[in-house]
Amino acid sequence: TAVDDGPSVQFDLSTVDDMSTRVRELRRRRARAHDGPSPAATEAQHARRKLTVRERLDILLDPGSFVEIDTLRTHRATGFGMADRKPPGDGVVIGWGAIEGRTVFVHAHDFRVFGGSLGEAHAQKIHKIMDLAESTGAPLIGLNDGAGARIQEGVTALAGYGGIFRRNVRMSGVVPQISVMLGPCAGGAAYSPALTDFVFMVRDVAQMFVTGPDVVHAVTGEQVTHDELGGADVHTRTGVATFVHDDEESCLLDVRYLVSLLPANNQQPPPVVTTADPADRRADALLDLVPAEPGRAYDMRAVIAEIVDDGEYLELHEDWATNIVCALARVDGATVGIVANQPQSLAGVLDIASAEKAARFVQTCDAFNIALVTLVDVPGFLPGTGQEHSGLIRHGAKLLYAYCAATVPRVQVILRKAYGGAYIVMDSRSIGADLSFAWPTNEIAVMGAEGAANVVFRKEIAAAADPGAVRAQRIAEYRERLVHPYYAAEHGLVDDVIDPADTRSAIAGALAMLRTKRATYPLAKHGNPPL
Ligand code: HXC
Repeated sequence: TAVDDGPSVQFDLSTVDDMSTRVRELRRRRARAHDGPSPAATEAQHARRKLTVRERLDILLDPGSFVEIDTLRTHRATGFGMADRKPPGDGVVIGWGAIEGRTVFVHAHDFRVFGGSLGEAHAQKIHKIMDLAESTGAPLIGLNDGAGARIQEGVTALAGYGGIFRRNVRMSGVVPQISVMLGPCAGGAAYSPALTDFVFMVRDVAQMFVTGPDVVHAVTGEQVTHDELGGADVHTRTGVATFVHDDEESCLLDVRYLVSLLPANNQQPPPVVTTADPADRRADALLDLVPAEPGRAYDMRAVIAEIVDDGEYLELHEDWATNIVCALARVDGATVGIVANQPQSLAGVLDIASAEKAARFVQTCDAFNIALVTLVDVPGFLPGTGQEHSGLIRHGAKLLYAYCAATVPRVQVILRKAYGGAYIVMDSRSIGADLSFAWPTNEIAVMGAEGAANVVFRKEIAAAADPGAVRAQRIAEYRERLVHPYYAAEHGLVDDVIDPADTRSAIAGALAMLRTKRATYPLAKHGNPPL
């Protein structure tokens, strides 16, 4: 990927006084920046199954909407042959454009220029666009394809990353920040995305790692390829990647879809669209989708599709912590965040990974005024030394904290099982849900009837002449008294027991009523969540 930088000045500015000649020279400089370093570098980029930076922007943004600034910026490094290599733009394109007519700010890295590495000028360009995104209150999208800190620029490159990290955090919860990983992203090029709200990765072309395979080999002796170390299939399971795609085009189109669901900033509600899907549509299919027997599995995603507008939703972290589903969708045209236990994965238990995944999602929705709908079918927390010794208490508390702190409209629907602490954590009324609905199949209790009988009536069962009969009798008794929705309804812990077919209309009605919800918390510098 040889860089044909050319001399930075090919034109004697001191002697020309003719406007059209000056404009021609301006156009030549712009064209050079636009075309990239060389046809060979572009071919090499395409040979890696990657688009060039401007091809990417063409897919991401509404046609003709992109406005570029700092096109002619160059670095000021002199060592290691850098004085003769001053490509215009310094390996990053910055500017703003529109997605469905709404402004977004973009920085897009050009791997053809010094491997997309970040030096001082490159970093300052990103700082500039981040500052504009913050001050104007519009989303920031980073198209990342770069090797991290530019080695030739030393500590000034590292400091450039410091300035990005600081801004990522300053803007966190203020404007949506979206990272799109489109190449080998090392060091700071991986850390900055980790501070943003959503991370997209493209399979086979994108990798994220703190130190690359060469360093890994030098330090540990371990031989590993780029993809084995930090490819999309790795990070779809670590939770680092929120979304994984097979190609750049579908990835960039999904970024557009995501942006269409989000508000421009935390002071605005998410956009509301008109929908042909009636808010009061009966969802009769739900009666068959969810088996009444508490132990039988089903795919919660089918339930979500039945409830939301047009069956459309955007699932986050599809392959990580699959026992919980987190998705963005619309109900009656307004964006909602859905958190749902997934009975077909680990029976839908809560564990460390699912608590972390859902906590992050709840926090993201709360930051951007997205109402939360929680679909509960949870047998409890995953028991065992594996989880307890890995800090289940601390990690589980993240989800509890995130829900308790969320001030957006919150609606809970209990489909079937809702046992113990896991029921409380899954946005129960007692931790602040605004409304809670239960299906008639619902079992809210401290635990299942069998488990309860074994604990409470253990001695009586052991001493009985016919332990089996006493046990069965006690289970039936417990089930009749406590394990159904009416006990919770009688105590005001669910607001209504509903026909499952009315779930969509109940949610839509609740969210419409809650649109004007106001909630204030006592003043704190910030909370102290169990990170
Ligand atoms: C300057 C770099 C560079 C870098 C690559 N290049 N990395 N230039 N600084 N960090 C240049 C190469 O010299 C080459 O230039 C071109 O980019 C393409 O690189 P290749 O190695 O040929 O490409 P590839 O085989 O695809 O490998 C890509 C790569 C690898 C995985 C990114 O280059 C790599 O591991 N680079 C080092 C990554 C790294 O350690 N970065 C520092 C991270 S520390 P020519 O001119 O030959 O085309 C960091 C700290 C931030 O970021 C703070 C964190 C808290």
